[in-house]
Amino acid sequence: GGVVPEIASRKHIERINYVIEDALKQAKVTLEDITAVSVTYGPGLVGALLVGVGAAKAIAYAAGKPLVGVHHIEGHIAANYIEHQELEPPFLCLVVSGGHTHLVQVHSYTEFEVIGCTHDDAAGEAFDKVARVLNLPYPGGPQIDRLAKEGQNVYALAKPRTENPMDFSFSGLKSSVLQFKERCKRRNAEFVPADLACSFQETALKSLLSRVVYALDHVEGIRHFVVAGGVAANSRLRTLITETVAPNYPDIEFTIPPLSCCTDNAAMIAIAGTIAYQHGKTGSFDISADPGMELE
Ligand code: KG4
Ligand code: ZN
Repeated sequence: GGVVPEIASRKHIERINYVIEDALKQAKVTLEDITAVSVTYGPGLVGALLVGVGAAKAIAYAAGKPLVGVHHIEGHIAANYIEHQELEPPFLCLVVSGGHTHLVQVHSYTEFEVIGCTHDDAAGEAFDKVARVLNLPYPGGPQIDRLAKEGQNVYALAKPRTENPMDFSFSGLKSSVLQFKERCKRRNAEFVPADLACSFQETALKSLLSRVVYALDHVEGIRHFVVAGGVAANSRLRTLITETVAPNYPDIEFTIPPLSCCTDNAAMIAIAGTIAYQHGKTGSFDISADPGMELE
């Protein structure tokens, strides 16, 4: 029902050379054509990170190219520059992935300030866990997204509460879904899975967006709002942002990345590395996998 770290690392070892060869072939370039090698070295699962860092160092060393280390979340944020080349910091970014739920003030291409974060589960993690409660396969986010379209928001679930109005919390909501299902079972009562998916999704997304709205209302000088990460692929979240949030803020620009740039991809690490390289950053060959690396 999720990623098994040992299997993930082994698969990375098995596949990485093929992936790199294939990427070069599809891009119609050779290693000689490349300016620098960029690699994500944290945060994440240490085994998988080690394989990537090892491969990147080997390529960079053998080809005599600089090595640029990238923070995974910096990559998610940079994914927005792929389609929106006019996008420039400063902007406020909601980062919602399987491992992170952050509100980030992107002050410049290389300076980030986290002004809100989750106290427990990440948003994507909550989608994945609730999907498991509904017996849906992993990853659960796209499954809930699809099923919720067939349902209605009719079940009252626990609304996430946090002391800091820009922080997030999803474990109470996730437990509330589980308890609801167990209560139905005990009482031999039927429930409609699509309605439960829809009720969960609406509650989770409203909680995400209430933090965004608070930040837009209270943080000085925001002119641009951007989303990033796997959960940014959620169709309902995209609709809510464009149809219910954006119209209330005519002076703020809203950017949503294309679907292909939301979930994990190598292009986002490449573009983040390109930007870091253009700003004078090249990593030494001393970098190593850092599973708990901080964005700031
Ligand atoms: O950013 P990402 O690809 O990997 C991490 O860095 O974690 O995000 C993966 C997460 C998973 O939890 C997945 O269920 C969620 O993003 N996700 C979605 C959707 N597509 C992917 N969640 C809600 N709706 C979606 N359409
Ligand atoms: Zn990611």
